[in-house]
Amino acid sequence: MSAIAAQNDDFSEYLTRHEEKDLLRFLTCGSVDDGKSTLIGRLLYDAKLLFEDQLASLKRDSRKHGTVGEDIDLALLVDGLEAEREQGITIDVAYRFFATDKRKFIVADTPGHEQYTRNMATGASTADLAVILIDARKGVLSQTRRHSFIASLLGIRNIVLAVNKIDLVDYSQSVFDAIVADYASFASGLSFESIVAIPLSARFGDNVMERSARLGWFSGPTLVEHLESVPVGTAASAAPFRMPVQWVNRPNLNFRGFAGTICSGSVHLGDEIVVAGSGRTSRVKAIVTADGELEQAFTGAAVTLTLEDEVDISRGDVLAAAAQRPEISDQFAAHLIWMSDEQLNPGRSYWIKIGTRTVSASFTEIKHKVDVNNFSKLAAKTLELNEVGLVNLSTQEPIAFEPYGVNKTMGGFIVIDRLSNLTVGAGMIEFGLRRATNIHWQALDVTKELRASAKGQKPVVLWFTGLSGAGKSTIANLVEKRLASLGKHTYLLDGDNVRHGLNRDLGFTEADRVENIRRVAEAAKLMVDAGLVVLASFISPFRAERDMAREALEPGEFIEIFVDTSLEVAEKRDPKGLYGRARAGMIKNFTGIDSPYETPVSPELVLAGGTKDPHDLAEEVVAHLQARGYLD
Ligand code: ADX
Repeated sequence: MSAIAAQNDDFSEYLTRHEEKDLLRFLTCGSVDDGKSTLIGRLLYDAKLLFEDQLASLKRDSRKHGTVGEDIDLALLVDGLEAEREQGITIDVAYRFFATDKRKFIVADTPGHEQYTRNMATGASTADLAVILIDARKGVLSQTRRHSFIASLLGIRNIVLAVNKIDLVDYSQSVFDAIVADYASFASGLSFESIVAIPLSARFGDNVMERSARLGWFSGPTLVEHLESVPVGTAASAAPFRMPVQWVNRPNLNFRGFAGTICSGSVHLGDEIVVAGSGRTSRVKAIVTADGELEQAFTGAAVTLTLEDEVDISRGDVLAAAAQRPEISDQFAAHLIWMSDEQLNPGRSYWIKIGTRTVSASFTEIKHKVDVNNFSKLAAKTLELNEVGLVNLSTQEPIAFEPYGVNKTMGGFIVIDRLSNLTVGAGMIEFGLRRATNIHWQALDVTKELRASAKGQKPVVLWFTGLSGAGKSTIANLVEKRLASLGKHTYLLDGDNVRHGLNRDLGFTEADRVENIRRVAEAAKLMVDAGLVVLASFISPFRAERDMAREALEPGEFIEIFVDTSLEVAEKRDPKGLYGRARAGMIKNFTGIDSPYETPVSPELVLAGGTKDPHDLAEEVVAHLQARGYLD
């Protein structure tokens, strides 16, 4: 085990030793060669945080691999740990701890050059301050502007502009002044409270911990002096009580506790609290922690609350001060940082995780994206990797929230791709677009059940998916004829037909196909509500949208039928001559040629569209429906 891992094991002892000191969380942002690793290494070294054996091996490595001659290469310390982490040897070294006489510090080390924005967004959400590193030889770069913009969006109010490698420009004041002026004019458009610029050399230690004689012209603080004295926010404790419920602790029938971390305000025994979503209220009976029961608990505390009444509460609910309920909405305007190589697809359904709650959501509109160099707003249909935009989103269920600027936990969310489970974005709610409590479903007297029973049938969607030319529409048409002959009330939604009307504005880009299927799924849902048996015949190449259609309906109302015809066969058939034209480059984004088809994972039915006769396949569908009681 490495020395740093040992250090993490001893971390609680270490924190206790420094308990009386307050804590500053910060992160460092820089491009690849700005000297981020060297700076963190320097801080640990100057704070005398390295163990003897670590120092010895560092000296050895510096001679072997270092880039700084006889000196110790501090970057090797941090980079070495990164390599270790990549091999999975130590787990939690993303945060480094050190302390001076005045304060203790947690620095979020955000390595990984490609995934930089993602790491930064993760590290920044709890940070009080960002150190923005600039290479004195290069000045303010596009990366510098991007990192600053994201830091501002993430609510970081204090910036240190660390003008590093000042030794390489002969400790020049005019170089420093020019960079500071350049940055100041750019950053005036951002909402920082303080920007402190410091000339320094991480390699030689000038102005990091020790004041440098070579920078005599600089009268400001050293980096550590500033980190020790910058005020740390304490506002969260004064705000109203909020606690997202992490889990419901029910060890036996006599105890039912709601565990979570208080994200703002405080809670006292006997306080009246409300379940933000349902509006049910109760009073706090006990506040249980690992160290026994408390009378009162504050922001940041991990507690288990028990209540005086039996109230229905589950993971993801928010407990709040009854007199100051958070807003509830299912439509939001939010800033979104996109972090995936795959572009954002408006209309697609993603998971978003906000607080302890995970809900289905889609982005209904991209208001604009932001050019990080000058903050100009650009029209956009999608967001690409590392782009930032203002979007509207809609969640499937209403959620309790606060704007990110008021409460980072209640207003910050991550976006998760439903298929890959990867985090693809980070968002910050600006405001709710309407109060969910004010909108109701119009209660109708004639229900889906009534409409269905009047027709003597069980409404369902038969969703045919497969390549163009697979035989979907032919089979669906035969099935519809059979159902009609059995006296069923049906409707056939067909790709080619719908694209002449409802979806005439849509083409075949990925985004347009997502929207095509979203609208069709909504239409199919309405028809099911009308009591119909709906046949939908669409290539529907993406799993995410087929799953969305499935989830829009009740269990048992969606039957996915994969018409499994190979590309070779479909292309040989080429009923509309489209494959030929696609191969000739005359049609772009043609499914199977230059646009993907994602094979269904667990469809209810697979039809051998390449080998069997369509009439036999239609009978297979009818038999499936019969066997499962849909035609009773
Ligand atoms: S989907 O991908 O959005 O589900 P949909 O089923 O509505 O497609 O429409 C597919 C039909 O549009 C095809 O059967 C074909 O006749 C026609 N078409 C025209 N251009 C394309 C294209 N680039 N890719 C696939 N189908 C196309």
